[in-house]
Amino acid sequence: MAEKQSRLVQSARGIAGSLLLPGDKSISHRYAMLAAIANGRSEFQNFSTGADCASTLACLLALGCRIEHRDNKLCVTGSGPALKAPKFPLDCGNSGSTMRMLAGILCAQEFTSELVGDESLSRRPMARIIEPLTKMGAAICAAKDARPPLKISNAGALLHGIDYKIPVPSAQVKSSILFAATFAKGETSVEEPVRTRDHGELALGAFGAELHRSRGRITLTGRQQLTAIQAAIPGDISSAAFFLCAAAIFPGSKLIIDHVLLNPTRASLLDVLTGLGARIQVINLSEQHGELAGTVKIEYGVLRGTKISGPVSVALIDELPVLAAIAPFTSSGIEVCNARELRVKESDRIAMVTRNLRAMGATVEEHDDGWKIAGNQQLHGAEIDSGRDHRIAMAFSIAALRATGDTLIHGVESVAISFPEFFSMLDAIAQH
Ligand code: S3P
Repeated sequence: MAEKQSRLVQSARGIAGSLLLPGDKSISHRYAMLAAIANGRSEFQNFSTGADCASTLACLLALGCRIEHRDNKLCVTGSGPALKAPKFPLDCGNSGSTMRMLAGILCAQEFTSELVGDESLSRRPMARIIEPLTKMGAAICAAKDARPPLKISNAGALLHGIDYKIPVPSAQVKSSILFAATFAKGETSVEEPVRTRDHGELALGAFGAELHRSRGRITLTGRQQLTAIQAAIPGDISSAAFFLCAAAIFPGSKLIIDHVLLNPTRASLLDVLTGLGARIQVINLSEQHGELAGTVKIEYGVLRGTKISGPVSVALIDELPVLAAIAPFTSSGIEVCNARELRVKESDRIAMVTRNLRAMGATVEEHDDGWKIAGNQQLHGAEIDSGRDHRIAMAFSIAALRATGDTLIHGVESVAISFPEFFSMLDAIAQH
């Protein structure tokens, strides 16, 4: 990652304007990976600009794919299902999605490969993909405690279908298994305990795979050939979340975000903000390859409080840090439960949110699986340690807008992981 940088965020008077955001990260990873193993040239408009998706593209390039920028589009030319042996270890950078989902494709190739990551990724658990992929016949060897790097030996044609119940809800794990299943002999079924984002299933369908979905169970017959697609990727709703939460905490705010992803497995933030009291309107709905998009208009409304738990915590996993960061500005606070997964993200996001809210003067109760954050608290400017975690840096930039005094956020270079344009867009809509 780039050299550590800090940024001063000043308090603001309000939020106003309209924005169009770079493409959704989760969809961009999946489209690029499936394009790599499809026949023909896929073309994507509004591909994610984040470093995580750049890591995916760099790995695909090293695996022999052709990647070009043409007329504002990213073109990925696949080589059918067989990729080329990479000359060096594949660097996934900070991206858990790259490592976990690419492993599903690599374990079906007829060559040996190695996936490495940065310091943060090297601490993240990989047993969740090693277990099901090994059951399918893959040969994966990890470092201590099933952490990266991962060495994947050539299982090639030996993969076979499995019937697997995912123990921890994870869309990355689900996609990893399904991607491996397209190469495997026989049928694979995946069952998830709680519904997670379904971009993997939708993308496989878009690239021509036949799969069956019913009540948390997805079944796919292996050895299917994928075909290139053309797509305009909707704006990333998890990036939009920061600005929607910013608008929600300032009386008089009015913000419009065009062509943003509204896939129902990703858009729970709109329900939660509406439940809190924000005034939200969705217009101009469109759909492509099963992915719903539209224009979101948000206006301030007095924010009450809420408790987020169960499947809603799973659906909102990437938005919980920013919701926690604005909890003090609600009237009766926000409680989050069943979000233990936050501890194994790019940082321990439960600990990082607690530490930084306390640094800004808030009273926070930290639990093993979330927080209880009282409402009606005034925050003051402070020094924020983002832990070089993009979502922590962005969440506290939003809290800083309503704090008294200036806030210095350390490790802001990390925003480039998902959203390099974050600060320039924030400057465009924040009124000082
Ligand atoms: C993602 C799934 C989530 C999420 C991550 C992206 C995906 O991770 O936190 O930012 O694209 O599938 P898990 O699958 O580990 O829950």
